[in-house]
Amino acid sequence: MATEATEIRGPGHRVKRVEDDRFIRGKGNYVDDIKLPGMLHMAILRSPLAHAKINSIDTSKAAAVPGVVAVVTGDLMAQHNLAWMPTLSYDTQAVLATDKVRFQGQEVAAVIAEDPYVAKDALELIEVDYEPLEAIVTPQRALEPDAPVIRDDKEGQAGNAIYHWEAGDKEATDKAFGEADVVVSIDTFYPRCHPAPLETCGCVADINPATGQATIYMTSQAPHVIRTVFALVTGLPEEKIRIVSPDLGGGFGNKVPVYPGYVVATAASLLLGRPVKWIEDRSENLISTGFARDYHMHGELALKKDGTMLGLRTSLLSDNGAFYADAQPTKFKAGLFHIVTGSYDFKAAHVVADGAYTNKAPGGVAYRCSFRVTEASYLIERLVQNAAYELAMDPAQLRLKNFIRADQFPYASATGFVYDSGDYHGAMNLALEKIGYDELLKEQKEARAQGKLYGIGMASFTEVVGAGPHKDYDILGLKMNDGAELRIHPTGKAILKISCQTQGQGHETTFAQIVAGELGIQPEDIKVMHGDTDNTPYGLGTYASRSTPTSGAATAMVARKIRDKARKIAAHLLEVSEEDLEFQGDRFFVKGAPDRAKTIQDVAFAAYTNFPDGMEPGLEGVSYYDPPNLTFPFGTYVVAVEVDPDTGQWEVRRMVAVDDCGVRINPMIVEGQIHGGLTEGYGIAAMQLITFDDGGNCVGSNFMDYLLPTSWETPKFETFATVTPSPHHPIGAKGVGESATVGSPAAYVNAVIDALQHLGIRNIDMPVTSSKVWDAVQAARAGETG
Ligand code: CDP
Repeated sequence: MATEATEIRGPGHRVKRVEDDRFIRGKGNYVDDIKLPGMLHMAILRSPLAHAKINSIDTSKAAAVPGVVAVVTGDLMAQHNLAWMPTLSYDTQAVLATDKVRFQGQEVAAVIAEDPYVAKDALELIEVDYEPLEAIVTPQRALEPDAPVIRDDKEGQAGNAIYHWEAGDKEATDKAFGEADVVVSIDTFYPRCHPAPLETCGCVADINPATGQATIYMTSQAPHVIRTVFALVTGLPEEKIRIVSPDLGGGFGNKVPVYPGYVVATAASLLLGRPVKWIEDRSENLISTGFARDYHMHGELALKKDGTMLGLRTSLLSDNGAFYADAQPTKFKAGLFHIVTGSYDFKAAHVVADGAYTNKAPGGVAYRCSFRVTEASYLIERLVQNAAYELAMDPAQLRLKNFIRADQFPYASATGFVYDSGDYHGAMNLALEKIGYDELLKEQKEARAQGKLYGIGMASFTEVVGAGPHKDYDILGLKMNDGAELRIHPTGKAILKISCQTQGQGHETTFAQIVAGELGIQPEDIKVMHGDTDNTPYGLGTYASRSTPTSGAATAMVARKIRDKARKIAAHLLEVSEEDLEFQGDRFFVKGAPDRAKTIQDVAFAAYTNFPDGMEPGLEGVSYYDPPNLTFPFGTYVVAVEVDPDTGQWEVRRMVAVDDCGVRINPMIVEGQIHGGLTEGYGIAAMQLITFDDGGNCVGSNFMDYLLPTSWETPKFETFATVTPSPHHPIGAKGVGESATVGSPAAYVNAVIDALQHLGIRNIDMPVTSSKVWDAVQAARAGETG
């Protein structure tokens, strides 16, 4: 046997993504690739109006079309007690409308046919008599006393308010403001945007009439939760429900909620005894499925003249659409928005949050962010940037002066989080060094002297991910814990089954690397399975960068459990006591005698062939992880832009991103995640908007109106890392999937505002389009001359 330990490509290695082999060959297996014998196709009729009473629905003409097998309405669903379903935020949502439609695009009826085109064509023959009602398109209007009540289906619902929620300490914050020399405030709107995964949502529901077995292939980021919700909603026994999420073409939070299409297709399969496929088109996805953001925010920052931050006050009004369906931990009505104190050492802070129903699609999903952290991060970083102008301080210096210091961790924030670890000064100093901040300031001065509009913006964010500890974190009562099951085969190859669900993040590669690091089995010898509730351990799924902090931790733990047993077997094989063994790389060896060794493969074989008397054979285990705390990735982004004063167009000159997600399992995948997030952040800052006209018609329901950044307009990113391990995570990793979208919009906008701040411009709401910039510049100049 070789005495040299082999180099194992565990955490820290840039292992190529194993999943890409099938993706680049066009061999992925998406829901729409699934074709079952006898399969029917479903299409959904959606409301053209945002708010209207339904007087009647006539389906007779549609039902008569050759090839149509059934037409389903809310009344039919009601006969089976399925016209309404619970949302993930303890509200109810119409599956198919019975009484009223409450947003444009709402599901009204469904046609099931032998052919998808017949199903779609037949929709046009369904006659619905609508009686239009006033459409409410802003939460401000929704809360006016004379606004019509959107949710008149709910007993005791008097107006359109959904919740009122507070965090922090009002009294202490008022006191801090009393001591302030300067108070800086901002009103800003983080507009509605959409995750827009390339693959839209859909399912194939297959209920076997003979056995009652329900197999539902579904675009879900959280298949286990969906199984439980389905059992509760439909009354089907949970062991007979199998949810399979095959390859997903992106999710970004959009594929967390339960959509009516899933429920109707399942009910139709149950009633018709045949598999039913439903795949939505692009406009259906953009107009009716989980949107993100839509927060109207007010922030006030209290400071001393020298720049010391004293207190923070924020209030927000959330536009939740017609059904409160935010996919977020139950306890926190506005998600984790109270991370709004960011990276700064505030003695006091107070957050007030209100939510309102409007005639828009529901959602509020964690679109490339932990729950509502993008909004929080944006608000604090816009405020801090404006405070620098108010105090005539350098924005970097103002931040450095107020950052929580590395020696203050674990740090209890004024709104109730305990940050695990951080080195904010380290991240910002690296970003400043990499962009050459001093040089850039000189360049800016020269550019300005020539009349150019040149801006430098920055944002230092603290993300909060890995929900979460069972005491505070649940969705519909289900604690937000995750699992991993690991089985080592006799030849030393392994299969890892995880509770989270990959949508392109590369879990099949990185989770294998975690096992590799713990057990010394090369990642290519470990198959990673996910997305099949019959064959993976329970867990709450993948969103909000929680996979690595939860299921990733469970993976390390189960591997360690197996290593403990492997040690006993190795001791037996080497005829020494366990205490005499050390583990390194891929093998156990006798302390001081490295040539007396057994590899993990030797041990795995022995686990089935030559194990000690009295030991249970086999080498496998399962672990569930209940994190003791969340993890808090962080970073600093610095952006330089030039604004064209004649057109308002702005162009990114430099973009430097420093991210810290603790130990990087696969630095290449992490960089990919950050590039993706920075691109999405740029899209949000520069061009993306789902909006509505006064009648509640959705503007932005196709890719001509809702703009995704392409390689043409996306800036070049320069990415760097610092590494501050999480002290409680088994391998010191923090999540990263969402950080860049959380942190970067403020950096882009701050850069544009910096270019214009000498004109007195302090805010332009996203998306910061050239026309808005041009308007702001014209208005400022008119003000100057007028
Ligand atoms: O929940 P989600 O997978 O979207 O987010 P994540 O846990 O932050 O992970 C995103 C991807 O980056 C996964 O493939 C992770 O395993 C990988 N990652 C990593 O390699 N190192 C980290 N410290 C964090 C994430």
